[in-house]
Amino acid sequence: MSGISLQDISKRYSGSVLAVDDIDLEIESGEFVTLVGPSGCGKTTTLRTIAGFEKPTAGTVHIGGKDVTDAPPYERNTGMVFQDFALFPHLTVHENVAYGMEADGGYTDEEIDARVAEMLELVELPGTGDRKPDQLSGGQQQRIALARALAPKPDALLLDEPLASLDKKLREQMQVELRRIQQEVGITTVFVTHNQEEALTMSDRLAVMNEGKFEQVGPPGDVYNEPETRFVADFIGTANIFDGDVTQTEDGYVSVDCGDVEVESTATRETAVGDDVSVVARPERFNFQSSTDDDRDENVFTGEVTFRRHLGSSVEYRIETAEGREVVVVRPSGLDEHEPGEQVTVSVDADNCRVVST
Ligand SMILES: Nc1ncnc2c1ncn2[C@@H]1O[C@H](COP(=O)(O)OP(=O)(O)O)[C@@H](O)[C@H]1O
Ligand SMILES: [Mg+2]
Repeated sequence: MSGISLQDISKRYSGSVLAVDDIDLEIESGEFVTLVGPSGCGKTTTLRTIAGFEKPTAGTVHIGGKDVTDAPPYERNTGMVFQDFALFPHLTVHENVAYGMEADGGYTDEEIDARVAEMLELVELPGTGDRKPDQLSGGQQQRIALARALAPKPDALLLDEPLASLDKKLREQMQVELRRIQQEVGITTVFVTHNQEEALTMSDRLAVMNEGKFEQVGPPGDVYNEPETRFVADFIGTANIFDGDVTQTEDGYVSVDCGDVEVESTATRETAVGDDVSVVARPERFNFQSSTDDDRDENVFTGEVTFRRHLGSSVEYRIETAEGREVVVVRPSGLDEHEPGEQVTVSVDADNCRVVST
């Protein structure tokens, strides 16, 4: 298996915007890395640059230590799966899965038959070789597309929103299934999605993209709990974001004037008085306050519960303060539940807040 290295990659389409703007990424052999970001941020362009379907305007691509920047796609030995799986409709499942090996040449019929059977076993669709794609469900077709990509033993698997056209339940099943297969094969994988939940649940690391740049690259837990920018905090998971300017820095804490409130946060980045910053607090870091335990004075918000929804193991509340600010709070289900319309007070420790760049 092989790692992938992107160095100083930029891509400008002719007469168009800079789709990818000077990105670097080192992907280890066997690693599952997700490129995640809103539509148009440059994910597909980056993936196609790795595959060789786009030539970067600047920078180099290495696969398995070899410089493939100028190599055509068929010399890169990558397997790709797209959103619209694009199985060949007139070919059987067996013929679809065998396609890459047939195209490469150099395999006997026995080798191809054995490999196809092995791949159908891997994606848990043994015995479907004689069927045509239209005799399979959407989820099954996507598994066959994966089997087809893996059959020629590629060095890397490149997946562009492969689950986007599946309904939610099937998509969640396929997330688990795809991850299982990837780990079983141990193949280096680059996965593209605009779905932050999918990126968090599947990846060893995610690269959060915005306007052609990587805003942050790291394991899911780090990106969620320690966002470095306002964009990342907002795009990955739900965040309460307080924009304001620094009024005080002291002993590792920062005070930020947000107009309606003054927020205290641990100083997770260097700031000076007067700087524009954002303070981020995840919803599950808040607590409800009862009237008896109120000697706390930092980051306290009083308002009305305007919305409540049960998420299964937790409950989400939206609370609107008198100043018109909405605070989102998530608490474990069955604990201190509150009703819509109720006046409540919530607070979050400064230690559970982060200062991020705006
Ligand atoms: N072939 C192309 N020619 C010109 N512009 C393109 C082409 N493909 C993509 N773009 C532009 O490049 C930017 C990034 O696109 P893309 O990589 O497809 O983003 P994503 O996959 O994140 O949605 C967008 O502004 C898009 O319009
Ligand atoms: Mg895309």
